Amino acid sequence: MTRILVLYYSSYGHTEAMADAVAQGARDEGAEVTVARVPETAPDEIVEQAGFKTDHDHQTIEPEDLPDYDGIIVGSPTRYGRLTSQMAAFWDRTGPIWQEGKLVGKIGASFTSTASQHGGQETTHASLQNNLLHHGMIITGLDYGYEKLVDLSEVAGGSPYGASTIAGGDGSRQPSETDLGGARYLGAKVARIAKKLAG
Ligand SMILES: Cc1cc2nc3c(=O)[nH]c(=O)nc-3n(C[C@H](O)[C@H](O)[C@H](O)COP(=O)(O)O)c2cc1C
Repeated sequence: MTRILVLYYSSYGHTEAMADAVAQGARDEGAEVTVARVPETAPDEIVEQAGFKTDHDHQTIEPEDLPDYDGIIVGSPTRYGRLTSQMAAFWDRTGPIWQEGKLVGKIGASFTSTASQHGGQETTHASLQNNLLHHGMIITGLDYGYEKLVDLSEVAGGSPYGASTIAGGDGSRQPSETDLGGARYLGAKVARIAKKLAG
């Protein structure tokens, strides 16, 4: 069976909700899916002060577990138009598997969350995908087969670079059905490609 990893970081739950939707899409294609988060690196007092989510829905994973999967979909909220330091710290620990080329040829994709509509989604995708490219992975995005990408009737995430949501300045906007649909579409697409590559 095709094994897909959905790997995420989320301070306030928006990216976590997107991770679950990505996973659902991959499961709908018959893949065996693991959803895991990268470890928190912020000190406890900052986590408390900033009100980060601590009742996580998923366990953490270690870099040496990555080669177990046929496809890896990574998600992080934006920090100044790039991935979080928590997600970067995780990839900074993948040197040994990079050295052995353990992820070369696997399929990958990304998802993100920003506070504002133009707050750096595409550059955050790029910063997530850079890690996968350096590992020799094949990258796919959210193609226009997801027709909501050209729907201008509502504020929505999603772009050819990957799935996304918009949290609002105070975090009050939750991922919409359109955002979650994009995440499911991406998860399903990665699962199908992983299956083809394995065959
Ligand atoms: C230090 C910092 C920098 C941020 N930079 C941006 C930014 O450049 N653009 C933006 O739209 N949102 C920015 N945000 C808001 C986060 O992206 C937002 O809280 C996140 O998308 C919510 O996702 P989460 O619930 O998964 O943590 C920033 C937040 C922090 C704490």
